[in-house]
Amino acid sequence: MPGLKPSVRFYVLAVGALGLILLTLEWLREPLRWEQSLLITALLMLGINWASERYVIKLPRGGELVASTISQIASIFILPLPLAMTVTGLTTAVSEFLSRKPWYKVLFNTSQMLLAVGLPALALRAFGTPADLLGRGNAAQGMPLAIGCVFLYYTINTVLTNAIIALDRQSSVIDVWLDNNATSVLLEVGMGVIGVLWAYIWLQDPIWSLLTVWPAAMACRAFSHIRRLEDENEQGILAIADTIDARDPYTFQHSKRVAAYVERIAEVLELGSRHVEILGSAARLHDLGKIGISNEILHKTSALTPEERRLMQRHPEIAAQIIGRFRDYRDGLLAVLHHHERYDGTGYPQGLRGEEIPLGARIIAVADSYEAMTSDRPYRRALSREEAVAELKSGMGTQFDPMVVAAFLKVLSEEERERDHRLLHLNARLPQPIGTHQSSSVDTIDAVASQAGRQ
Ligand SMILES: [Fe+2]
Repeated sequence: MPGLKPSVRFYVLAVGALGLILLTLEWLREPLRWEQSLLITALLMLGINWASERYVIKLPRGGELVASTISQIASIFILPLPLAMTVTGLTTAVSEFLSRKPWYKVLFNTSQMLLAVGLPALALRAFGTPADLLGRGNAAQGMPLAIGCVFLYYTINTVLTNAIIALDRQSSVIDVWLDNNATSVLLEVGMGVIGVLWAYIWLQDPIWSLLTVWPAAMACRAFSHIRRLEDENEQGILAIADTIDARDPYTFQHSKRVAAYVERIAEVLELGSRHVEILGSAARLHDLGKIGISNEILHKTSALTPEERRLMQRHPEIAAQIIGRFRDYRDGLLAVLHHHERYDGTGYPQGLRGEEIPLGARIIAVADSYEAMTSDRPYRRALSREEAVAELKSGMGTQFDPMVVAAFLKVLSEEERERDHRLLHLNARLPQPIGTHQSSSVDTIDAVASQAGRQ
């Protein structure tokens, strides 16, 4: 498990072991009575599970929604538990293996699915055999239990997955859940409910259960379209932000660099992954309002007239008006609106002071200023890192929030350490000239830096 934190390794192995232990215990619990109909049903479920496993919808922030949820839930009621778990585990393991995932990912994902199917079925057993609960015409009692089983499946599945991401990112499971699953919870649980309906009809008469294929396919297709529209929406608005940067060669990719700094500052301030992401998006769009400013004003190299300054200072409000129309970006609206406020209350548009200014706006202000200071402009050369840091320090308490500047200084020193580490690594891989003695580390870094700079 190269590159994994020790806590993540332990978690992977623990979940892996639990899933396999549960499967083994279920097979040992009581021997199955193999009949032809049971074998055919198991093979059929295996085929359906395999086919629906191919239908994957990408979620906004790295997660996936797989249509096999429907057949996995149905199998809890249709098949004896060891077989239901085996069908699910086998499908997952082979899929993961064919995707050339490393052994520990295959183990974790397989065991996670074994637990997601096995544990809700065990909970149902407290009330009776799952097939009897749903299939004996006692829907008034069986259905609520079956729906509860869907929620349990969903909870186990998402908690196990999100916990590994939370351990790796050192954030909370709830934050990761909000990132990955909050927008799709209804669909994910809805797919499980379709699985219950499928099982219910199957237990009355298997052939009519085919009817559930239609609504299931429609639900998956509709969600897939929603995701595509969300992606296009995001790409569209980011393309506008990039176009604004590109109007001026001096600000090319400015908002991307600001967003990278903003995310690092938010991480240092331990704002949680959800807020890091919101502020990163806000930073990408912070100057979107410049779309309403003419090139004459935007590219003017001499001092702005009072009227031009008034027009220029409208850009945060224009940006906020545009962002307000996009639901996905509204959380970062205040950070964009107030990114030119100053800590002493002399900024714009509202002259907010101190902590009246939203924290996101205070963070963008620092990152934006540093990025602007360290970039060339038509009317001045770029400041060095040391000069820009001195400017930030001198603006602490007047222009900038001292806490945010302190966090940003940490980001810069981390960045410096990472760069030094990369250069040392690069140096170690370069062949040493024959006949020269080992140079000092400072000389070596400089030599490699200048060599890398020429490439
Ligand atoms: Fe701005």
